[in-house]
Amino acid sequence: MEEKGVIAKITGPLVVADKMRGCEMYEVIKVGEEGLLGETIRLDGNLAYIQVYEDTTGLKPGEPAIRTKAPLSVELGPGILKNFYDGVQRPLEGIRNKVGDYVKRGVYVDALDRTKKWQFVPITEEGKEIVGGDILGEVQETKVIKHKILVPPGISGKLLELKEGEFTVQDTIARIQTDGEDMELMMMHKWPVRKGRPYRDKLDPEVPLLTGQRINDTFFPIAKGGTGAIPGGFGTGKTVMQHQLARWADAQVIVYIGCGERGNEMTEVLEDFPKLIDPYSGETLMERSTLIANTSNMPVAAREASIYTGITLAEYYRDMGYDVAIQADSTSRWAEALREISGRLEEMPGEEGYPAYLATRLADFYERAGRVKTLCSDSEERIGSVTVVGAVSPPGGDFSEPVTQNTLRVTGVFWALDSSLADRRHFPAISWLRSYSLYLGDLREWFAKSTAPDFIEQREEMMGLLQKEAELQEIVQLVGADALPARERGTLEVARMIREDFLQQNAYHEIDSFCSLEKQYLMAKIILQWYDGAIEAIESGIGVEKLERMRIKDAIARMKYVPNEGFREKYEQIMKDMKDEFEELKRKEREE
Ligand SMILES: Nc1ncnc2c1ncn2[C@@H]1O[C@H](COP(=O)(O)OP(=O)(O)OP(=O)(O)O)[C@@H](O)[C@H]1O
Ligand SMILES: [Mg+2]
Repeated sequence: MEEKGVIAKITGPLVVADKMRGCEMYEVIKVGEEGLLGETIRLDGNLAYIQVYEDTTGLKPGEPAIRTKAPLSVELGPGILKNFYDGVQRPLEGIRNKVGDYVKRGVYVDALDRTKKWQFVPITEEGKEIVGGDILGEVQETKVIKHKILVPPGISGKLLELKEGEFTVQDTIARIQTDGEDMELMMMHKWPVRKGRPYRDKLDPEVPLLTGQRINDTFFPIAKGGTGAIPGGFGTGKTVMQHQLARWADAQVIVYIGCGERGNEMTEVLEDFPKLIDPYSGETLMERSTLIANTSNMPVAAREASIYTGITLAEYYRDMGYDVAIQADSTSRWAEALREISGRLEEMPGEEGYPAYLATRLADFYERAGRVKTLCSDSEERIGSVTVVGAVSPPGGDFSEPVTQNTLRVTGVFWALDSSLADRRHFPAISWLRSYSLYLGDLREWFAKSTAPDFIEQREEMMGLLQKEAELQEIVQLVGADALPARERGTLEVARMIREDFLQQNAYHEIDSFCSLEKQYLMAKIILQWYDGAIEAIESGIGVEKLERMRIKDAIARMKYVPNEGFREKYEQIMKDMKDEFEELKRKEREE
């Protein structure tokens, strides 16, 4: 018999139902005559508090609340990529086709198309013992991604039959003999969004997720499986940075969670992102992305669920052995949804009205990131990762507010966007003085081995020069640059070069948009070589003005526009010309 309660009270997205004893936390409930989708978020005696993922206008006390006895889950199988979902994995396209532009309530559209047939190619053999996480076969999901069909976690047994051919996500593709009975497997399985998918081991964050962005990679690198925060006030470049990471990061699969409030953010999510071109394949980026969109006309509760939906999809592709990157823009909108629902629950408000559990919710979310050895048979080993980067939009750009602060506590990289840099059109407007990466120590060895032994030393030297510049600037403000000793003026000049010729990077420039790690290293080397030459020249009595007017500085300023391929030749040329010019300066000095 159907177990149902009765609606007692409705306040916006929150519905309280009576006669719900026995109901579980986070159980999906069909609310009202229309069967609106909801989830229990608090239980109290006979009462269940249900957050509803659809508009509750018109819902009345007395209508039924039907238990489904299942937690809020996502569907995992081919068809996730290239798709646009709302926060509870309803395909936006599917809903539009069914009911027109307005999302009608109570309309149920499957997350994965039930009619589409996929070519399934088995890659294991009948008769084998298999366990959760093993790959049964592959499906070419999009032009660029092969979808591995996994044995769902927790299932194991002998593979009795493995089919080949065209199947829908619900057709049987394999039969296994488990302890008790035979079991049929299909390409799709479900997973509850609030529960992290299991893995074998978590690995140390020793491999960087390269982004092609100089300030990110060289100065504040993020690890594969790491977590990062991009806090920044209005218009400081959060979305551009997220898009740059989505396009260029060396992850194969992208999960983009867009939480928008204002109109322009809606276009960013639904119109701009799908237009991005994948520089690696030349196809659209959607070929290897899935997009979760929360726009302001969507119910606030769906926004709360969206980050869990997103990370579960990401974990699923991680389990196939992919490096997955999640971009959440912006997590502040998610936190606002949490605050609104907490308010409706009449919970004791914490700082700035956010619930006291904001910190643990953020921690739980970011903790699901990681580079792992996935589940699979002992004879095999597969590594995948989920890297999470969340943008934060603190009101007024004030980083002391609770969402920024609690995010900082649990993320490994802090890319702080600075309004004054953005105002000066220094992009990316990441502050080199306020940002940090906790992964530097773990990544040191990787950079030394894979790029150059002195990669991190160069980084530290540049960082030191920028810090020195900040100190000197205080003096300059008091007495002017001319009053500084020549050596210090040399430092100011090299710091300017680091800022303008290295850190500034134009996302919209065909070449500059992406900078290979080798090019980053060589660019840094050129600038530091100039500095060494300059100090030597100063010590031999050459005036700073002469150094400031060197011809080579034009070549240095333009080096970011030199293609990555063949940059080494350009590097050698610049180094040679620079040496010659310093020699020339010294010769003239001696002649004078
Ligand atoms: N790396 C970059 N290269 C060139 N221009 C940039 C870069 N980053 C940001 N910009 C400029 O800054 C503008 C604002 O960036 P963006 O929309 O990403 O800000 P935001 O922080 O997401 O703003 P909002 O608070 O409205 O969400 C861009 O339209 C672009 O002109
Ligand atoms: Mg934005």
